[in-house]
Amino acid sequence: MINIIRVHNYDEASDQAFALMKQYLQPGKVLGLATGSTPLGLYARMVKDHEENGTSYLEIKTFNLDEYVGLEITHPESYYAFMHRNLFDHIDILEDNVHIPCGLGEDLEEKAREYDEMIDQDPVDVQILGIGSDGHIAFNEPGTPFDSLTHITDLAESTIQDNCRFFDNDITKVPKQAVTQGIGTIMKARNIILIATGVNKAQAVKDMIDGPIDEACPASILQKHPNVTVIVDEAAGSLLA
Ligand code: PGA
Repeated sequence: MINIIRVHNYDEASDQAFALMKQYLQPGKVLGLATGSTPLGLYARMVKDHEENGTSYLEIKTFNLDEYVGLEITHPESYYAFMHRNLFDHIDILEDNVHIPCGLGEDLEEKAREYDEMIDQDPVDVQILGIGSDGHIAFNEPGTPFDSLTHITDLAESTIQDNCRFFDNDITKVPKQAVTQGIGTIMKARNIILIATGVNKAQAVKDMIDGPIDEACPASILQKHPNVTVIVDEAAGSLLA
């Protein structure tokens, strides 16, 4: 069952996500982290809490959901760079405890298998998720098998369009492939917090919560997860009953 928290706006969504996250900011916990604009407010609150309250990440591990294929980690839009710029550089986490899928070099499928093995050894206590306007979670686009593990995938046209704003609005610069945790990988997380804000997420939110569990809407599988909280603002929740 999906627990829904309704808030007015993005700031309130970030406050709620942080309030839920806070209980996992303890030694030994494993955080599943996401990129995109959605979690930025949450990460800002984690940084502020670290600075003001001394919350330590020395004994916390993280696993990110995905990474572009073929983008150097030094590229500002790589998810490696994104995570360091917005979170890791501002807290006391150890680089050895940070895990981000590898999208560079040979044998990416083999590296993807190794990523799943690492997650199996250190299961994620809480996974942060955004949702795509097409219902994707991580880079699992519509049609991705629900039992998929970490894999290389082609980005949907709508996702390439959505991400164009980060690449000088030049579609030729947007990577066309990514390595992503599969839906089966994400479903192994013990707890999931999905944040959705803005009117362009409204249909995806409705399909996720009220629609059939169908691979046409990857996020709809969350209806089967035992411990999911979805935080929606007024716009993203506007089509819900
Ligand atoms: P966004 O992306 O946070 O930039 O809206 C969400 C997603 O595609 O999962």
